[in-house]
Amino acid sequence: MSTDTILVVGGTGNQGRAVIDRLTDLGIGDEIIALTRDASTTHAQATAELGAELVEGDLTEPETLRPHLERADKVWATINFWAVGYDAHIELGNNLGDAIETVGGLEHVVYSGAGDQQEETEVPHLHSHYVVSERLRETGVPYTALKPVYFMENWEPIGIEDGMLAFPLDEETHHHQTTYYDTARASAIALHNTDEFAGTAYTIASDLLTLDETAAVISDVTGQHVDPYHVPLEDAEAEFGEEFAVMCDHFINEGGHTSFEANIRRIERDFGFTPQTLEEYLRENGWEDGKDEPTHVPGWVKAMQ
Ligand SMILES: NC(=O)c1ccc[n+]([C@@H]2O[C@H](COP(=O)([O-])OP(=O)(O)OC[C@H]3O[C@@H](n4cnc5c(N)ncnc54)[C@H](OP(=O)(O)O)[C@@H]3O)[C@@H](O)[C@H]2O)c1
Repeated sequence: MSTDTILVVGGTGNQGRAVIDRLTDLGIGDEIIALTRDASTTHAQATAELGAELVEGDLTEPETLRPHLERADKVWATINFWAVGYDAHIELGNNLGDAIETVGGLEHVVYSGAGDQQEETEVPHLHSHYVVSERLRETGVPYTALKPVYFMENWEPIGIEDGMLAFPLDEETHHHQTTYYDTARASAIALHNTDEFAGTAYTIASDLLTLDETAAVISDVTGQHVDPYHVPLEDAEAEFGEEFAVMCDHFINEGGHTSFEANIRRIERDFGFTPQTLEEYLRENGWEDGKDEPTHVPGWVKAMQ
């Protein structure tokens, strides 16, 4: 087994905790250290319970990152766009990139951005994730870009109201979906196999369903009939916020799905696991028994609270 020290930036968040859970479960990493701004919070303490050592630091103050980067051999990172917005997302990513360069000597950096992140896009977070990812690549440290698509965990707070799954997608759009779990296991496997994964990029997509198909799977699992409601894009902003509405517009008008099967085969071949279906996700997260409370609070929902 590895003797690496792995620093998890964003380690007290949804994705970071899932990554730490996978690392400890698979016995990857001799020491796992999780960055937090405040080790006394409930979410930081929940991370410590997974077996990570909490270290304090702040991406807005790059000098606070350095001692942790000096101690680390490898870094996994994500930054929550929704909590800070476009400019600060890029600034925090630049701070991390600068600190990584200043410290030097790291063996591997893995950044979890967003599916379809790209240089030419009207969707702010798909652009800022692209810019941050490129900044980390430019550090020269062996680098892996993971690009998870829409998380199934988002269905938790959206939920079913009056037998309806309401979401801003039209009837035709096939919606790529994944999970924290699949993103985390790809992350852990990449960190454990630096030579194989340095210089690679992967879209992490686990299932592909229209909104009608998504509602049908939820109906099957819960045993209660769920109707899809295609929220018109013009109403999406009021209900979900501007960024979410722009993202759904992108899903409808620019989201291609032709590479989905090939992408799944590539994940199976390179990471050695078959991604979760929506049905598996729902069954593993208590949807069969009905939901009083969401199992997860996604980053965009935390930012709205
Ligand atoms: N929702 C989707 O469908 C989807 C799909 C793909 C990608 N994404 C991306 O996922 C990201 C959100 O990930 P998440 O849900 O894991 O986020 P999260 O749960 O909100 O976690 C945020 C983490 O960042 C840390 N953090 C925040 N500000 C910091 C700072 N200034 N310095 C150091 N650490 C800081 C927090 O630590 P402390 O609070 O402990 O300091 C926490 O560990 C977003 O960027 C989003 O674009 C979302």
